[in-house]
Amino acid sequence: MTAPPDALSTLVDTRRVLVTVGAGGVGKTTTAAALSVAAARRGKRVLCLTIDPAKRLAESLGISEMTTEAVTVDNGRFEAAGVEMKGSLTAMMLDTKRTFDELVVRYSSSKAKADKLLSNKLYQYVSTSLAGTQEYMAMEKLVAVKDDPRYDLVVLDTPPTANALDFLDAPERLMEALDSATMKWFVEAFQNSGKFSLNLIAKSAAAVLKGIGKITGGGFLEAMAEFISELNDLFGGFKERASRVQQTLRGGDVAFVLVTSPAPPAIKEVLYFAERLEEARMPRGALVVNRFHVSPPFADGVSEADAAAGIAARGLSLEEDAPARLVQAHGDAVRLASLDAANVRALATTAGGMPTVRIAELETDVHDIALLARLSDVLMSGGV
Ligand SMILES: Nc1ncnc2c1ncn2[C@@H]1O[C@H](COP(=O)(O)OP(=O)(O)OP(=O)(O)O)[C@@H](O)[C@H]1O
Ligand SMILES: [Mg+2]
Repeated sequence: MTAPPDALSTLVDTRRVLVTVGAGGVGKTTTAAALSVAAARRGKRVLCLTIDPAKRLAESLGISEMTTEAVTVDNGRFEAAGVEMKGSLTAMMLDTKRTFDELVVRYSSSKAKADKLLSNKLYQYVSTSLAGTQEYMAMEKLVAVKDDPRYDLVVLDTPPTANALDFLDAPERLMEALDSATMKWFVEAFQNSGKFSLNLIAKSAAAVLKGIGKITGGGFLEAMAEFISELNDLFGGFKERASRVQQTLRGGDVAFVLVTSPAPPAIKEVLYFAERLEEARMPRGALVVNRFHVSPPFADGVSEADAAAGIAARGLSLEEDAPARLVQAHGDAVRLASLDAANVRALATTAGGMPTVRIAELETDVHDIALLARLSDVLMSGGV
């Protein structure tokens, strides 16, 4: 099933939160940015929470690597690109460590306790490197801004997880990694510190201590003990929070936009993810097949004579074998397009009724406002 042309525009008009998810590199950040531009052009005040956008894309949204503050794009930038902007677009780069720090401050019983934990070496490691931290903090930030009255729509980009499922499982994974059994083990290990050895810890609690070798120098045991007791204090808070985050994602005003490339492994992953979303009762909004190869003109084939005539008509002087190479390139493009079309047809039958929107592969990467606006048109009109 191809999408009704209004599949994504309906989502943009009716939801308060859109979350782009998918395998690494398929176009989650690009889709989130283009959806944000689309909604802002339709008059919404949009907050786009983005993760590690390519430098030029970030610049075109007015954000630099240096800032994690919310930055509202000057509408003059859109006008300069010939794009009418009825609403507003605010972009914000997600910062995992900072989000985690904010949580610690909120849940600590005193400022002194918070400061102690924040300056703990182990905390500094855990807050950036523990499995699921980045994904969980993305959701955490979402919950924090979701009801902000300054915005009508929040679009959340998700981290480049090697496996899209990491994102859905993030709260559990984080909780597991920090769970009290592990912590108990630490405490015991610490109490029996006669037998305590880095090697033993590294073997027994790999999840938490992966990379522990980096934390060197004196005061290690003290740092560990302090960390355990401070974190245990916060535990109740985090656990309750994780389930609230999960609950938020089940809301009727939320929709996930699943992004994939036309390649079978990415499709397989996105379908599995779609199933998991359904199991988790999280609303699946639409499926975007990005970087789709559109069939070139004259898909029935061109001859070398046609190619030579085309070259001559343009007054080009090319190498002798240019017509043959053009014919070959044209044939490759036709085959690629038909392969993508077949993959997407197969996907449509397995996508469980999710509207499927295709986005063609553009000639360049997506790095400026004009290209984002072009993509936003494509998304709002049902694709390709
Ligand atoms: N339709 C398209 N045509 C051409 N280039 C595209 C298209 N969509 C995305 N790109 C380019 O592909 C690259 C990867 O896109 P993007 O950063 O959005 O992927 P991602 O899923 O967010 O990746 P990660 O998992 O690393 O976060 C970018 O350079 C982007 O400009
Ligand atoms: Mg990205």
